[in-house]
Amino acid sequence: MKRICVLVSGGGTNLQAILEAQTSGIIKSGRVVLVISNRKAAYALERAKTAGIESKVINRLKCGSREAFESALANAIEAAHADLIVLAGFMEILSPAFTRRFERRIINIHPSLIPSFCGEGFYGLKVHEAALARGVKLSGATVHYVNEIPDGGEILCQKAVEVLDGDTPETLQLRIMKQAEWIILPETIEKLCREGTQEETI
Ligand code: GAR
Repeated sequence: MKRICVLVSGGGTNLQAILEAQTSGIIKSGRVVLVISNRKAAYALERAKTAGIESKVINRLKCGSREAFESALANAIEAAHADLIVLAGFMEILSPAFTRRFERRIINIHPSLIPSFCGEGFYGLKVHEAALARGVKLSGATVHYVNEIPDGGEILCQKAVEVLDGDTPETLQLRIMKQAEWIILPETIEKLCREGTQEETI
């Protein structure tokens, strides 16, 4: 059974989808053992508490520097013996030193079809605002490995979602969450945990 650490910053609906996938059996080869938020007020922390999962707040400003912040993150992840690190609405860009330290062990969910509407500055509702401004008829979500290029790591899974007339950033965000993010993130987690477990037993 793989140990999973989920990094969050906000509402935590993707964290909720992961926890529900554990209960329903979609995720059966791994378990969330730790939730880390960079914001004390993140509702995701309430979700972790309700599920009885250990959580920690590690704030970059409170740490004093990016190095200290990332070193606190790395220490918490290693203390939890996490195999897989999942960025589920985590709104901090991680340094090349950090991503190299956990190479092919960090994944992220991004709310567009990469390479559209991604990279630095494209997060949360801003992604959907940009998609609507460009007039695309399809958007979606992508799960990818995290490397030193923001949203530039190997793509693991994508799902397209229709953009409808009259969509606002909020209606498009919710449709992409429901029809893509909350499905492909748990499925990809299970796939990686299962493959990792099989490699060890060979
Ligand atoms: C999600 O839509 C996620 O894809 C996005 O932020 C939202 C977080 O929602 N992530 C990014 O934009 C990362 N660049 P949640 O806290 O309810 O899961």
